[in-house]
Amino acid sequence: MRLNVPVPLLMLIAPSLNRVYAGEAPRLAASELAVTAGVEVEPVVIAGVDYLRIQAEDSENLRGIVAVQSARLGLYEEVSGLLRPIELPVVDVLDEDLVTIPKYPGKTNEQLTRLLLNVTLSQVVAGQGTRSVLDPLCGRGTTLLQAWRLGHDAAGIESDQKAVEAFAAYLKTYLRRKRIKHTAEMTPVRREGKSLGKRFDAEVTVDGRSMSLGVFTGDTRQSAKLWGKRRFDAIVTDAPYGIVHGSVSDVRGGGRDRSASGLLADAIPVWASQLRSGGALGMSWNTLGTPRERLAELLTAAGLVVRDDGPWRHFSHRVDSSVHRDVIVAVREV
Ligand SMILES: C[S@@+](CC[C@H](N)C(=O)[O-])C[C@H]1O[C@@H](n2cnc3c(N)ncnc32)[C@H](O)[C@@H]1O
Repeated sequence: MRLNVPVPLLMLIAPSLNRVYAGEAPRLAASELAVTAGVEVEPVVIAGVDYLRIQAEDSENLRGIVAVQSARLGLYEEVSGLLRPIELPVVDVLDEDLVTIPKYPGKTNEQLTRLLLNVTLSQVVAGQGTRSVLDPLCGRGTTLLQAWRLGHDAAGIESDQKAVEAFAAYLKTYLRRKRIKHTAEMTPVRREGKSLGKRFDAEVTVDGRSMSLGVFTGDTRQSAKLWGKRRFDAIVTDAPYGIVHGSVSDVRGGGRDRSASGLLADAIPVWASQLRSGGALGMSWNTLGTPRERLAELLTAAGLVVRDDGPWRHFSHRVDSSVHRDVIVAVREV
């Protein structure tokens, strides 16, 4: 009698990822899939090529999760040592070149950004479909654009006005060139007669689905004031590394701090207050400036619950001699 043993699935990892994670891509990809799908995942090498072996039944739900993974190239069923390809659904609303075309110093790698978004969104409870994602240190918008590609609304804050202007100019040109139906405008922000900077707002409609995007120039510690009563499903950000970008401790004075610790201590309670119940905050940062335990303390003190066991402890990786990056996610429990 034939026993009904599930056939293992294999996710093929994009080879380009090893450039991003210095050979640690399989481990990071395994942790991403383990937390987003809630299944056991093991990196394996078959004929010299990296795959993730997934201990789960093939299902529509699992295919949907594999399709959004930051590292996936393909999915196979492993039958008696042979690989049978499985077609994955098309999940991205906008093309990959939306996030790969911009190149500038200080850009957060687009795959790491996608990983961070995926693991954070996987912890958001209640409600389905379109989420609202805030990146309160948004630079030139890698998180915002990845959120759009996944069909979510995006919002941001960035202290460098030139970065916001460059982002706005790029996005307008991209949408026009691709003939995507959109609106986009930059407007001054004034409160009580005082100039507070600028805001950029855009909206696209793709296949009848509309997505919004808004960015304020300004200090992230003013995020709750700038966004007012608006609450977000997810807050996703790559904190300043203290190398290309110092953390701006005084936006007007331009004071710079070697690590982001001071900024994070001030900003985390503000960001936590902008998270709706059931929402999640995910961050990548340089552990050489701020130890994981310190960040976990700050998130806990702000009333969030840190995801800290099993695969959550396996995202740390070396970027270069001055940056050792990790990922942390915390939730506002319902
Ligand atoms: C690591 S970069 C993020 C890059 C972004 N993910 C991208 O790919 O373009 C951190 C950003 O935080 C911004 N920043 C630093 N301190 C800030 C503050 N107090 N308020 C707002 N933005 C700040 C920096 O200007 C920088 O753009």
